[in-house]
Amino acid sequence: MTQSPLHTETSVQHVAIIMDGSGRWARARGLARPEGHRAGVEAVRRLIAAAPKLGVGTLTLHSFSSGNWQRPPEEVERLFGIFEDFLFAEPTMWIGSGVRLAVFGRRDRLPGTLLQTIEYAESATSGCQRLHLRLAIDYSARHAILDAARCLNAANSEAEEAQFTRLLGQAEGEAVPEVDLLIRTGGEQRLSDFMLWESAYAELYFTPRLWPDFTHEDLGEALKEFHLRDRRYGALATAV
Ligand code: IPE
Ligand code: IPE
Ligand code: MG
Repeated sequence: MTQSPLHTETSVQHVAIIMDGSGRWARARGLARPEGHRAGVEAVRRLIAAAPKLGVGTLTLHSFSSGNWQRPPEEVERLFGIFEDFLFAEPTMWIGSGVRLAVFGRRDRLPGTLLQTIEYAESATSGCQRLHLRLAIDYSARHAILDAARCLNAANSEAEEAQFTRLLGQAEGEAVPEVDLLIRTGGEQRLSDFMLWESAYAELYFTPRLWPDFTHEDLGEALKEFHLRDRRYGALATAV
């Protein structure tokens, strides 16, 4: 089989990205913050195209945290408008390229038009199999964990890890895969309430690159570094 020049030796199943730094990217150019979010959409497009060629089967992108409601309403509104335009425009192409969309997070606080566009994009791409694209919108890992715990409690059942993981993914109707590599752009070195359960053994990769500047080469670099890491899960290194 001929491999794409982008293909790395071993593939990594699940990459999750905290796409940070778009506001600073705009400010550095004398632009309003939402311009940075708009530029960030281009980076998202690039990554979606690059991920399957790099062997990534699941790509999770942090798009709007529950904490982001604390931002000025105008920025939140612009962000939702950007999501809506994006999710309305992309599915035609995603169907051709095999991208299946799933949005996770709270849906009860999203504007109706965004919600409808999300449902349209999810159902239009539901048969696609090449890349599982997951977007976190109004997402808080703590909230998701609490919700799953409440479900368990209501069902009066014992908390088993596998069952808990399934409950966490209930909104998507399938278990959330473990994160192999968690990337955060923009220079901050924190998780900001993102995928806390699913990232228990994720390899963390922090880069100062601002999100709108992030390219497929940057993803390739992160994957290269990932393949140098020794994932031990508490056991001893194989060479010991
Ligand atoms: C991340 O970029 C995107 C969202 C939170 C929606 P920021 O908007 O946090 O950009 P910076 O960190 O202020 O540069
Ligand atoms: C995390 O970035 C949220 C997203 C990337 C969507 P933030 O910029 O909101 O996180 P903090 O405030 O630096 O922790
Ligand atoms: Mg930020």
